[in-house]
Amino acid sequence: MNKFPKDFFWGGATSATQIEGAYNVDGRGLATCDCKTAGSFSKRREVTFIDKDGHHGSIPSNLGGTLPKGAHQAVLDEYFYPSHEAIDFYHHYKEDIALFAEMGFKMFRLSISWSRIYPTGIEEKPNIKGIEFYKDVFNELQKYNIEPLVTIFHGDLPLYLEEHYKGWANRELIDLYMKLAKTCLTEFKGLVKYWLPFNEMNDYLLMLDMFGNISTKESHKESFQIIHNMLVANARTVKLAHQIDPENKVGSMICGIPNYPGSCDPVDILETRYRWEKGIYYTGDVQCFGKYSPFSKRLWDEYEIHLEAEQQDFIDFKEGIIDFYTFSYYMTNIVTTHEVNDIVQGNFANGARNPYLEYSEWGWSYDPKGLRYYLEVIYDRYQMPMIITENGLGAVDKIEEDGSIHDSYRIQYLKDHLHECKVAIQHGVELIGYTMWGCIDLVSASTGQMSKRYGFIYVDRDDEGNGSGKRIKKDSFEWYKTVIATNGEDL
Ligand code: BG6
Repeated sequence: MNKFPKDFFWGGATSATQIEGAYNVDGRGLATCDCKTAGSFSKRREVTFIDKDGHHGSIPSNLGGTLPKGAHQAVLDEYFYPSHEAIDFYHHYKEDIALFAEMGFKMFRLSISWSRIYPTGIEEKPNIKGIEFYKDVFNELQKYNIEPLVTIFHGDLPLYLEEHYKGWANRELIDLYMKLAKTCLTEFKGLVKYWLPFNEMNDYLLMLDMFGNISTKESHKESFQIIHNMLVANARTVKLAHQIDPENKVGSMICGIPNYPGSCDPVDILETRYRWEKGIYYTGDVQCFGKYSPFSKRLWDEYEIHLEAEQQDFIDFKEGIIDFYTFSYYMTNIVTTHEVNDIVQGNFANGARNPYLEYSEWGWSYDPKGLRYYLEVIYDRYQMPMIITENGLGAVDKIEEDGSIHDSYRIQYLKDHLHECKVAIQHGVELIGYTMWGCIDLVSASTGQMSKRYGFIYVDRDDEGNGSGKRIKKDSFEWYKTVIATNGEDL
C-alpha cells in the first residue's frame, strides 16, 4: 500500500534549447528560439529581426506578434540570446549525466534539436555531426542504465521552416517532420525505446487568450490546423516507431493544467468542462482513442473551423494510438464567468486567483492535490500507463559563503507532489515514472531567465550569460538520491 511500483522511472527532464547551447556548432542551423532575447516576469522575451530596409528591431514574442512586412528574424550583435550557450550541455553532457547517475536516475528526458539534424529542415541528408552528438549522449546514458525518454519536437523549429513554410500551420510540415522522426527512429534504434513525438501541442489552444492576445476566429483556425497537422505526424510516428522496433513505446506529452470552477454557478461548471475539453481532451483523445472527441464538433462549429485534412489522417489516428500518457504539471487554473479583479497568469494558466492556494513570484499556484486530481481524472478516462514528464519549482536560489545551496522550498514542493502521486497510485492510477522538470538548472522557456532555477544541480550562469558554468549540488540533490534509493518510501 502507498508505494511506488517496482522499476518506477525516477528521473529528470530537459529540452534541447534550454540546455544544449552550441547553437552554431558542428553544422547546426538556426532555430526559432535562437532569435529570442531574455526577459523576466514583467518583461516579455522579444524576437529580433532585420526589416526590408536593413534596420534592426524586435517585437514581443507571443502568438499574435507579427514581424513588419518584409522583415526576417535574425540574430543581432546588440542583443543577448540565452539559448545560444544555455548551460552548454553540448560540451558538459558527460559530467551532467554522471551527476544524474549519482542521484540514481532511471530515466532522463531530453529533446532533439531539429536544426542540429536537419539545419534548415529541407535537406535530403541529415547532418552526421548532429546524429553523432545524440548517439554519444545515449551511449553515455546506457553506461549508467539510464533510459532516455526522447521528445522529438520541443518547440524549436528550424528557422527556415518558420520563415519559408509558415511553420506548423502548413501541412507540408508533416512530411518534413516525418523525415526527422524516421532518422531518429532508425539512427537511435537500440539506444532509445521511449519516445514523445511532441511537447505540449495543446499549448496552441491554451495560448490563444494569453500574453495580451485577444483570440479571433482566424487565430483559432490557425491553432486548430497546427494541432491537426501535429496529431497526424504524431500518429504516423507511433506507427513508424512500432514498425522500426516493436520494443519502441510512444507517448503523448500534454500540458496538464486542471481547471477548477470558480463557483458552483452552473454556468461556471459548464465553462470549466468546456476548458477541459478544449485545452486537455481535444489532443489527448485523438492520441489515446484514435479519433476526435464528440465535443470537437462543437468547437469547430463555434469557430467555423474546416480542417484541411485527408481521409488517410483519420485512418492514421486509429492506427497510431499511443502506448502511454505523459503530461507536465505545475499548477491549476480557476475558471469563472463572473467578473474578477485578480487574474493570475503563469505558464499556460490564465484565471482567477485561488484563495486557497499560494503562488510563486512568477504567478504559478502551489497545488499538489491538483496533481492527484489530474492523475485520477485522466487515468479514469484513458486507463493507460502514465508518466509525469514535467513537474518542479522555479525559484531563485542563493549560494552560501561555503558554496552550499539550501533549497528546502524545492524539497518541500517535490515532497508534497510526490506524496499525492503515492495517493493516486493507491487509488489505482498506473503511474510508471516521474521526471522532474529542469533536473539541472536551465534557461526558462517563458522568461529566458537562468535565475528561475528548477535543478537539483546549480549551474553558475546568470541572466546575462555571465558565470563559470560550474555545476554545484544543491541540498535537493542528496534528498532526491535518497528518494530514488528507497523507491519513494523516504520522501
Ligand atoms: C513547460 C515547457 O510548459 O514548462 C518547458 O514544456 C518549460 O519547456 C516548463 O521550461 C517550465 O516553464 P518555464 O517558463 O518556467 O521555463
